[in-house]
Amino acid sequence: MPTITEILETMEYGPALENDKIARDWLSRGPFGHFIGGAFTAPGALFDSLNPARDDVLAQLTQGSAQDVDAAVNAARAAFPAWSGLSGHARARHLYAIARQIQKRERLFAVLESLDNGKPIREARDIDVPLAIRHFYHHAGWAELAAEEFAGQVPHGVCGQIIPWNFPLLMLAWKIAPALAAGNTVVLKPAEYTPLSALLFAEICIEAGLPAGVVNIVTGDGTTGAALVAHDGVDKIAFTGSTHVGREIRRVTAGSGKALTLELGGKSPFVVFADADLDAAVEGVVDAIWFNQGEVCCAGSRILVAEAVADRFTERLRTRLKALRVGEPLDKSTDIGAIVHPRQLARIRDLVAQGQAAGGVLHQGSAPEGCFFPPTMMVEVSPANPCVSEEIFGPVAVVMTFRTPDEAVDLANNTRYGLAASIWSENLTQAMDIAARVRAGVVWVNATNLFDANAPFGGMRESGFGREGARAGMAAYLRPARAGASTPALGALGPLPQSASTSGLDRTHKLYIGGAQKRADSGQSYSVIVDGALQGHAPLGSRKDIRNAVEAAHKATGWTAMSGHQRAQVLYFLGENLAARSVSLRAFASQAEIDDSIARAFYYAAWADKFDSSVHDTQSAHITLAKYEPFGVMGLICGEEAPLTGFLSLVLPSIAMGNRVVTIPSQSAPLATLELAQVFACSDIPAGVINIVSGPVADLAQTLAAHDDVAALWSAQPALTKLVEAESAGNLKPVWQVTEPLGQGRDFLLAATQIKTIWVPYGA
Ligand code: NAI
Repeated sequence: MPTITEILETMEYGPALENDKIARDWLSRGPFGHFIGGAFTAPGALFDSLNPARDDVLAQLTQGSAQDVDAAVNAARAAFPAWSGLSGHARARHLYAIARQIQKRERLFAVLESLDNGKPIREARDIDVPLAIRHFYHHAGWAELAAEEFAGQVPHGVCGQIIPWNFPLLMLAWKIAPALAAGNTVVLKPAEYTPLSALLFAEICIEAGLPAGVVNIVTGDGTTGAALVAHDGVDKIAFTGSTHVGREIRRVTAGSGKALTLELGGKSPFVVFADADLDAAVEGVVDAIWFNQGEVCCAGSRILVAEAVADRFTERLRTRLKALRVGEPLDKSTDIGAIVHPRQLARIRDLVAQGQAAGGVLHQGSAPEGCFFPPTMMVEVSPANPCVSEEIFGPVAVVMTFRTPDEAVDLANNTRYGLAASIWSENLTQAMDIAARVRAGVVWVNATNLFDANAPFGGMRESGFGREGARAGMAAYLRPARAGASTPALGALGPLPQSASTSGLDRTHKLYIGGAQKRADSGQSYSVIVDGALQGHAPLGSRKDIRNAVEAAHKATGWTAMSGHQRAQVLYFLGENLAARSVSLRAFASQAEIDDSIARAFYYAAWADKFDSSVHDTQSAHITLAKYEPFGVMGLICGEEAPLTGFLSLVLPSIAMGNRVVTIPSQSAPLATLELAQVFACSDIPAGVINIVSGPVADLAQTLAAHDDVAALWSAQPALTKLVEAESAGNLKPVWQVTEPLGQGRDFLLAATQIKTIWVPYGA
């Protein structure tokens, strides 16, 4: 035993263990079954949930079978009419009761979460549980206001929700609270490593008097998750987890009519400029990558530091990481707890070894024996080092340097992911400039890992799509009432008309790519026959033309940089020119259609500078912006109805928001749109902003959907739903099935944008 004088000299902490009896007592009610239809089922085939810090079995749980999933989905379906039929106020009272009940059991939740996941009790107690409670309170409010604030919207029905092991209770709250507030019922599958807090939550549902079947919980591994994803009775899937599984789910749900949101992995940059408050930034790194053992999807795992301060900064980080205490999660002075499972530890070790083999040099703190990993910083890394490109999901940061802000942005964006970014600079002009240019769904300025129920969270690119939290998160659990059933009817596209006979007509239209009329790469055209009469010949576009068009759209970045007002001017001018050219357009479209098109140009010109972003009320002394940003390059697949209006109904909202588009016009009657090339040319629409490739829609759509440089896709061809959704899995672009291809309105603008949430704390 050290003497008090010795303790004061070394300032070593003494152990401060949280008593886990409360959780052990609760666990004694195991082995556990599922929670289906308001009651626990008898345990079936069992698996263990471990306490990774002590390598002991905490509880045994039931591996969910396809029959179990079926029973849970049926219970949720049976509960849906009554639950969705309740008033918003009645649902609000249930959510409020759940929040209150969790609050009463705060300590049990925190201890159970720490035991099951290995996270420090301090974090479970101060972060996971309070944020989960906040989420239910916040969504009690949305339930109350839903009818007023989301008029014309209805819930999807039964939501299948699959969550990971890093924040088990919090991720449950993020999924269940908005689903219930919107009037859905749910079947949730917790991760197999950390299912316990979900079962405790099931008890809360009973205590809070939630009607049976509104929440169902089925435990098990990936096969249970896969059964839920595949179940016909599920209307929406919400998934948080690895990009690999997210991609698989995108493929499996393709064409099923199920709505989908994916919150996937990340490799988020943590950018430190020379003028940053370096001490604050060091603490930022602690919260970015050594919080929750680095098992955080938005962890700041790539530290990018200005060369001028790199030595000073890494020196301070080295000192700081040595002071972090790794060990018993239940000890209140532990900074880093246990890695969730020996398999995850092996994965971290393997990736770090690969990083070293590629030349990376480690600086590490210490960690005890067992399922622990020390806080680690890897320097001397090249962009090709696997630790730079792969999500490690452990307390491991790589450090790279930059010289100029442009280089910082290039490095930050040099990843397949786009979940979060953290930017450190005392120069707010610079920080906001970088925040605007970095491709990430959440950006923290001089801060990191801030969360709030009223701040949208979610990714861009291969980090997934959809937002959780705030109004945007609620919207993801609702759909327009007019859309009818969520499963679109699959029609069939007619065969391409017979190829060229030039009788009587002298003109073959051309594709429109990069502001110029281009011959199709194939050199071929096809006959366009409308109402039995030959209308003309359209170019037979191919994959090569789509690729050229995407390249042209990619380059037209000037359009995205323009202000809404400037884009509005161009759209008004387009409207004017449509009127002036109506005579030549009349050969291909009715006057009514032309008039509609002119009105639509004015409508989206009006919106171009009015689709305002929001400032959300989150924490005091924080500005939390939810900024609508264009995707960049969008792919648009037009329907067959009213070819001119159908085309402009998709193109105009997309470009009004600053996107550049590659469009595939109606297969059967594309000439009106190709004729528009003349109008575009004289309307000051910059080259590459609108590109048109006509031809066999299915082939062209496949190439467009699979293209990595296309960031979002709209399709008004129900017959191609499955094809384009499956092909989109490569870069995980969001796909919007346009159910009203001739419609207009906010839905179109929302689908043409993604939210970037920017947190700017202020004050001392
Ligand atoms: P995972 O993606 O396999 O697991 C997440 C959830 O998906 C679990 O509930 C799992 O049972 C379920 N699941 C697995 N396969 C499924 C399928 N085919 N269909 C439906 N559900 C399925 O993640 P895992 O294997 O636990 O971790 C591997 C790596 O994934 C980690 O090292 C980390 O890099 C990343 N990850 C990222 C997370 C994030 O929040 N972004 C969360 C968890 C893991």
